[in-house]
Amino acid sequence: MTEEPDLVGVRARIARQLVGRERELELVLSAVAAGRDIVLEGPPGTSKTTMLKAITAEWGIPLLFVEGNADLTPARLVGHHNPARVLREDYSADNFVAGPLVEAMRSGGFLYLEEFNRSPEDTLNTLLTAMADRSIAIPRVGVVHAAPTFRVIASMNPVDDAGTTRLSTSVQDRLCRLAIGYQDEAAEREIVRLRGDVTASVLDERLVGDAVAVTRATRTHVDVRQGSSVRGAIDCVLVARRLATLRGIDDPECEAYRGLLLDAMIVALSGRIHLDAAADTTREQVLHEIWQDHFLLLAATAEPG
Ligand SMILES: Nc1ncnc2c1ncn2[C@@H]1O[C@H](COP(=O)(O)OP(=O)(O)OP(=O)(O)O)[C@@H](O)[C@H]1O
Ligand SMILES: [Mg+2]
Repeated sequence: MTEEPDLVGVRARIARQLVGRERELELVLSAVAAGRDIVLEGPPGTSKTTMLKAITAEWGIPLLFVEGNADLTPARLVGHHNPARVLREDYSADNFVAGPLVEAMRSGGFLYLEEFNRSPEDTLNTLLTAMADRSIAIPRVGVVHAAPTFRVIASMNPVDDAGTTRLSTSVQDRLCRLAIGYQDEAAEREIVRLRGDVTASVLDERLVGDAVAVTRATRTHVDVRQGSSVRGAIDCVLVARRLATLRGIDDPECEAYRGLLLDAMIVALSGRIHLDAAADTTREQVLHEIWQDHFLLLAATAEPG
């Protein structure tokens, strides 16, 4: 343990900023501390960015975001020569505008390539070369060597098929991988309490439980291909609290509370659920069903005996 004498301390400090995720943090941290690049595979809103921000902040290095899509050409990733200056001065290392890959290599940052399976094949190949060689040769600039902490972190959503490149085995063989799923109900409540500015009021406590329960229900509804992440539950609470103020509601047992929850669900969740192509329904209708089932379930569990 000479290289990272404080790996244990780093883990402890990062863990304090996270709800749960002990195992995922340990695995991601071990991979990057070992000098490896990694792909994080999981649906949106499952702590990927939160963990990476915490690790890079702890290491004091930049985290550079790139969105993987069809427009991400190798030139966008690597950089380009400023055309106006090229006309005046001809090509030189000086008028090269570094793209995120070169910036990350030079600064020893993490290049976080989100939805990387949406990137074109030649872009992935450029990336692979940079990862393998820890350097990249740029015409008229020279060879850029990566600083020691440079890493490539890729992410992909397994549910996402449209517009994605099937990753070749040669790409897969060059990356470590960790699948990340949703957290359990208790952890999601804790996240919502933290991010939803929640107070200790009866209304807030009830909102947290209800928002998390209905959000989780969007993930298992038969007509839904991908449900909402915990972000939907956070927004549901934030919106519902303002609605409560506007409508003068502070008792979660009153009839108006139910309507308030449904309205907050529509605003916070309808844009975040993706229906099955074959489903003959609307997102609003799905949410209405989830809302109804939720109160039926609550009533059933509240019944004596
Ligand atoms: N374990 C956690 N502890 C604390 N906050 C969390 C945790 N997981 C998620 N969050 C909060 O939930 C939101 C989404 O998390 P995050 O941005 O890390 O997800 P992500 O996996 O990067 O999503 P995406 O794939 O859409 O980029 C953020 O507001 C974040 O603060
Ligand atoms: Mg993210």
